[in-house]
Amino acid sequence: MFELPDEIKKLIKFCTEIDQKIDAEPVYGDVKELVLPNYVSIVESYGESPCIKLPPPMRELIKKDLYETIISRRSCRNFAPKPLPVGVVSTLLYLSMGCTGWLIGGYSLRRYPLRSTPTSGGLNGIDLYLINRFNGDALPNGFFYYDFVNHELKVLYKGDPTVTILKLFRDQSFVESAPLWILLILNLVRGVWKYKTEYYRLGLLDAGVLMEQIHLVATAMDLCSCLIGGLDKKAARVALGLEYWKIPVGAVAVGYKE
Ligand SMILES: Cc1cc2nc3c(=O)[nH]c(=O)nc-3n(C[C@H](O)[C@H](O)[C@H](O)COP(=O)(O)O)c2cc1C
Repeated sequence: MFELPDEIKKLIKFCTEIDQKIDAEPVYGDVKELVLPNYVSIVESYGESPCIKLPPPMRELIKKDLYETIISRRSCRNFAPKPLPVGVVSTLLYLSMGCTGWLIGGYSLRRYPLRSTPTSGGLNGIDLYLINRFNGDALPNGFFYYDFVNHELKVLYKGDPTVTILKLFRDQSFVESAPLWILLILNLVRGVWKYKTEYYRLGLLDAGVLMEQIHLVATAMDLCSCLIGGLDKKAARVALGLEYWKIPVGAVAVGYKE
C-alpha cells in the first residue's frame, strides 16, 4: 500500500471529522405516532406568487421500458437550443417527484403526501426549483418552485435567466445550451427535528435518489440530461432567495438532444 500524500490525509481528516460530528443519535419512531412540528411546511407557500397549473402527466411521452432505459442511460451534454413543452416538463416532474399517494394519519396528519421517489422518513426533504431558459408554449422563461402536492409551479421570477445560469453553472461545458435546469435544494427544517444532525447525511442521500430518478425518467422520455454536482452554491442561494436552512445540493440539466 502506498503512503498517502499529506495533502490527501488532511482532506480525508476534514471529511471524517464532519462525518463524526453528524453521528448523533437519531430519533426513530412510528410515523403515525410522531407529530409534524407546526413550523414544518410540507411545501413552501410563496404567498401570492402567481402559479402555473401543470397538465396531468402523459404516459405516451415515455418511449422506453425500464430495461432499455437503464441500458441506454448516458450523461448527455449536447442540447438542442429549443424549449421543452409544458406537457414534457409536467411528465418529467410528476414521475420524478410527484405526489403518488397519501399516508393516512402520517405524522399525525389526516393524510400525508408521498412522492414517486422515496425520501428518508418520508419527510420530503428535497425541494425542486426550475430555471427555464426559453419561452415555451405555456412555460415562460424564469425561475419556478415545484409544488409537488398541487402539481403546479410557483412563479418566482419571470424573465431571461441567462445571466444567473452563467453564474450558477459557469464550469459546465454546456452552460450556454441547456434549456432547463432543475435545482435540488435540501430543506433542513423538514427533518432535523426527527433525525438531528444525521439529517444532513440523509438529506444528501435523498438528493442522490431524486437526481437519478430525474435522469432515468428523462432517459425514458428520450430527452438529453446530465446530473450536475458542480454549481456555485452561494450564487444559487442568492438567485433563489433561499433561507439559511435551505442547501443547494445539485442540479439536473434537461433538454432535447441535438
Ligand atoms: C453526483 C454526480 C455529479 C455529477 N456532476 C457532473 C457535473 O457537474 N458536470 C458534468 O458534466 N457531469 C456530471 N456528472 C456526470 C458524470 O460525469 C457521469 O455520470 C460520468 O462521467 C459517467 O458517464 P455516464 O453518466 O455517461 O455513464 C455527475 C454525476 C453524478 C452522479
